[in-house]
Amino acid sequence: MRKKIAAANWKMNCTLSQAEDLLNKLATAQVNLTTDKISIIAVPFPYLLLAKEKLASKANVFVAAQNCYTKKSGAYTGEVSVEMLQSMQIPYVIIGHSERREYFYETNQVLADKVNIALEHQLQPIFCCGEALSIREADTQNSFVEKQLKDSLFHLTNEQILSVVIAYEPIWAIGTGKTATSQQAQEMHKHIRNVLAEKYGNEIAQQISILYGGSVKGNNAVEIFSQPDVDGGLVGGASLNADEFSIIMNALN
Ligand code: PGA
Repeated sequence: MRKKIAAANWKMNCTLSQAEDLLNKLATAQVNLTTDKISIIAVPFPYLLLAKEKLASKANVFVAAQNCYTKKSGAYTGEVSVEMLQSMQIPYVIIGHSERREYFYETNQVLADKVNIALEHQLQPIFCCGEALSIREADTQNSFVEKQLKDSLFHLTNEQILSVVIAYEPIWAIGTGKTATSQQAQEMHKHIRNVLAEKYGNEIAQQISILYGGSVKGNNAVEIFSQPDVDGGLVGGASLNADEFSIIMNALN
């Protein structure tokens, strides 16, 4: 059984006191999580240990980093290594968010390097893919997303790919309030699973969690998460409100 996941991506938001407040609220939120229905909270680097501490007693809630560098250590001022994340026992790292691709020019090859180094250090990548509006309008989204997966993931072994969580995030739906319809999400998730099955076989493809991201809110999560190939969501804006994110976590059930 693949896991269902409600993942929060705080992006570059929250001062220290705001982060503390949000974590305190999440730590006491009434949520029904299990080993198969988990939550992952991706906070900015400076709050990783705080988040771990505040959420330590919360079962089935994990902390993630939002990025990492391709090198293990060394003279790379301002970067954060997977070795550092591993030493803090951070289990997940988001890799390839469209904002990293767009504003920091991260290519499919750079992302393949990040995936590799994360896996070498026992961090599970939450690998993001998704097309821009122009690609959706040209109806070439399937081949575009397929290439992102092939270029950055398909060198992995069967064992390695099973440690990857995939997040499909159509760029035109991120932070815009314009969600993909549940049908559009299901179509792409099914396509991604088929592409995974062609490469790794159906049994492995069925075990990989594929999350949807892009304007997931408390009032649309149930509908989106109910699609057969949608295994939860990666949530930006709505994850900054503990009450709303609690609704989204409970929508996994
Ligand atoms: P959003 O962001 O929920 O604010 O659209 C999702 C994401 O970028 O991960």
